[in-house]
Amino acid sequence: MPEYKLCELDELQDGEAKGFYHEKGAFFAVIKDGEVYLYRNICPHLGTPLEWQEDQFLDPDGALIQCASHGALFAIETGECLAGPCAGDTLVKAEFKINDNALMLVAS
Ligand code: FES
Repeated sequence: MPEYKLCELDELQDGEAKGFYHEKGAFFAVIKDGEVYLYRNICPHLGTPLEWQEDQFLDPDGALIQCASHGALFAIETGECLAGPCAGDTLVKAEFKINDNALMLVAS
């Protein structure tokens, strides 16, 4: 499957998120405790992007992913909505690889 470079890993800080608007769609990455997670930037509630401000995908504590529209909260590790109007739904994970310190989206 084709791979597309999203960014250098150095551009991602642990405990923070970064959004990508790419020809393959909108995505965001989160690093937590050294693990990288990549999701499609689509809230399961209304199908809209999660952020109102650039790269703002997390709650104030940086513990959960938060949708800016209606406040839905999602687990960083699984994407499961833990609270809010889409509780029980899940963000869609995106496939990725890390090559030569670059975050690569894997998408057809
Ligand atoms: S659009 Fe995300 S919680 Fe409503």
